[in-house]
Amino acid sequence: MNQENQLQNRIPVIDKEVSWDKTQVIMSKTNAFGIIEYANETFVDVSGYEDYELMGQPHNIIRHPDMPKVIFKVLWENLKSGKNFHAIVKNLAKSGRYYWVITDFEIAKDENGVIVNYFGRRQSVPQEVITQHIIPLYKKLLQIEAASGVEFSEKYLIGFLEEKKRTYVEYIKELIYEHEKGQSKFSQYVAAEEEEEEERGFFRRLFNR
Ligand SMILES: Cc1cc2nc3c(=O)[nH]c(=O)nc-3n(C[C@H](O)[C@H](O)[C@H](O)COP(=O)(O)O)c2cc1C
Repeated sequence: MNQENQLQNRIPVIDKEVSWDKTQVIMSKTNAFGIIEYANETFVDVSGYEDYELMGQPHNIIRHPDMPKVIFKVLWENLKSGKNFHAIVKNLAKSGRYYWVITDFEIAKDENGVIVNYFGRRQSVPQEVITQHIIPLYKKLLQIEAASGVEFSEKYLIGFLEEKKRTYVEYIKELIYEHEKGQSKFSQYVAAEEEEEEERGFFRRLFNR
């Protein structure tokens, strides 16, 4: 276990949410190994760390113990192969409080195609999606990991998604999309318009880029 993990584990977890401006985007930049090189003001505000405490630290400084390992396994498999990945993540602030986000990544490569930096952007996730769908799934994955390891939480996740005939990203996209549709005053209009919206377009709109 490295120093940062020890630091992370020393934070007493508090079952309370960080109060933050959910219209903001939480952004960070890392090197190819996930070491933080830059964090925007919102990242600093929400995580509760000072800039000097974040720079040079591994990104797992904000890892929450309620997060199943398998989600990060899939996230890193995608990032290392140069692919964006949208994950719903519970993060741990310095105060011990939590904040839920959905991720969006950009990957910077050098002239030889070698990954040099990752840019991570995070937005808030509707509470209903978290409470009704993500918490029960992650709880199950965590229990499986504790009992039988990540090999089997991954198998469970694969089975869960196979049953739904979705990838993880398709599944969370649908959860957020269905929630948005239910919220919209013009739901029929939005539904018709967005029925054609592809996954890439959906997340581009969500992240305003
Ligand atoms: C650009 C970037 C952003 C990341 N953002 C987060 C994040 O918000 N929360 C998080 O727990 N892990 C994030 N990670 C993943 C961490 O590097 C790490 O894999 C994760 O915290 C799990 O810790 P572990 O790999 O030590 O098990 C990010 C990685 C990259 C490259």
